[in-house]
Amino acid sequence: MSRLVVVSNRVAPVAEDQPSAGGLAVGVHGALKQSGGIWFGWSGEIVDAPPETPTLYQQDSVGYATIGLSRRDYDQYYRGFSNGTLWPTFHYRTDLSRYDRKEYAGYLRVNAWLVEKLKPILRPDDLLWVHDYHLLPFARMCREAGIANRIGFFLHIPFPVEPVLRTVPPHRELTEAMCAYDLLGFQTDDDCTAFSDYARRQLGAVPQAPGVLAVGRRRVRVGTYPIGVLPDEIQEQSQTHSNSRQILNLKQGLHQRRLIMSVDRLDYSKGLVERFQAFERLLEMAPAHRGKVSFIQIAPPSRSDVEMYRNIRRQLESAAGRINGRWTDLTWTPIRYINKNYDRLMLMSLFRASQIGYVTPLRDGMNLVAKEYVAAQPADDPGVLVLSEFAGAARELGDGALLVNPYDTDGMAQALGRALIMPVEERKERHQQMMRRLRENDLDRWRDRFLADLRGDEFA
Ligand code: G6P
Repeated sequence: MSRLVVVSNRVAPVAEDQPSAGGLAVGVHGALKQSGGIWFGWSGEIVDAPPETPTLYQQDSVGYATIGLSRRDYDQYYRGFSNGTLWPTFHYRTDLSRYDRKEYAGYLRVNAWLVEKLKPILRPDDLLWVHDYHLLPFARMCREAGIANRIGFFLHIPFPVEPVLRTVPPHRELTEAMCAYDLLGFQTDDDCTAFSDYARRQLGAVPQAPGVLAVGRRRVRVGTYPIGVLPDEIQEQSQTHSNSRQILNLKQGLHQRRLIMSVDRLDYSKGLVERFQAFERLLEMAPAHRGKVSFIQIAPPSRSDVEMYRNIRRQLESAAGRINGRWTDLTWTPIRYINKNYDRLMLMSLFRASQIGYVTPLRDGMNLVAKEYVAAQPADDPGVLVLSEFAGAARELGDGALLVNPYDTDGMAQALGRALIMPVEERKERHQQMMRRLRENDLDRWRDRFLADLRGDEFA
């Protein structure tokens, strides 16, 4: 069987006792651990002079090949075009997006440079699996460098509809470049359809068979591959700390209060301000819950050198301060807003100890926290997932979760109120439904389906 070479901007070995670095890292690491292979990408360091060759090391069954970026490359490719233009636009925040030709040139340059650094490590029959928006033109650059391997791409974030994508000036060049991949994978049918519709209208793509587009002389396959979790592993992890001092102290300190739990990178796409406001609305609407419920928001800072991220942090600090100032009394603080990350075992135990998983992004590719929350629950007394209808996860968990529109403050407050008093029988039924979906679409299946399609002979 051919060797698997994964490429992503952030390469992050995830140990159970290390803070995690987002959905991509958790998913890709989990998938690679099982199959073995090589993971190539940015080391996370900014260096004065990037080295000629990547640093290679092995950890368990995974080989790592990582390389530092120069300050200019980091500014233009990562901070600039990837996170200042593509990230906001793909999350439908065109109001926060900006475009700079120099940054785009840097984005293309770094993609080509990464290809050049990967090439010497590649074997002719390696299967390449490239991840996320930082690397849309990676396959195009590979082809130009004479790399003929089969190359698949998976987008972890949403793919926007045509009028939104067109706000990115080089949209056509970018999507044409995406067609140099053999297989394009998306989180949901909506994302996949958005790409196919765009390709038909803007690139003159012609559907040839279900999931196959002819674009000029190339044929590209497209498909939906919702990323999943490993439910049994999470069950186990969620029990490791159940009797630890920290969890017992937390439970004791709560004095029988109900616990609402959220964990997100501090990102404007996560709907944190709206979420705080809806929690406050619950306290306004339902006096019985005052003093009886605590909301823990864990939000480790992310991309702090991008201005929009500093702004959202300020807004949140002010919302948390204002709400707590209004409602806190001598024995109760309604919101615990925590700006640091916890290791995975602790997070899973916290999920298990909380009665509500409150996951309300304004827009999200999948949101693995929603799935992790469900997988961490005790089957005989599970908590309730309150989930945004704009998270990719809502497509699979919509029957068991309480779906909310994060722009509807009253609706979210009502859903929290309903979750807080939901009888155990209903909670169990909803939990079982969601667990069935998690098991059907787990992380192994995500990887296996994608790689089987990438290996398949349909391209011949
Ligand atoms: C999201 C993206 C990933 C990214 C992660 C963390 O999950 O889809 O590509 O790695 O956020 O963001 P960062 O900018 O720190 O890599």
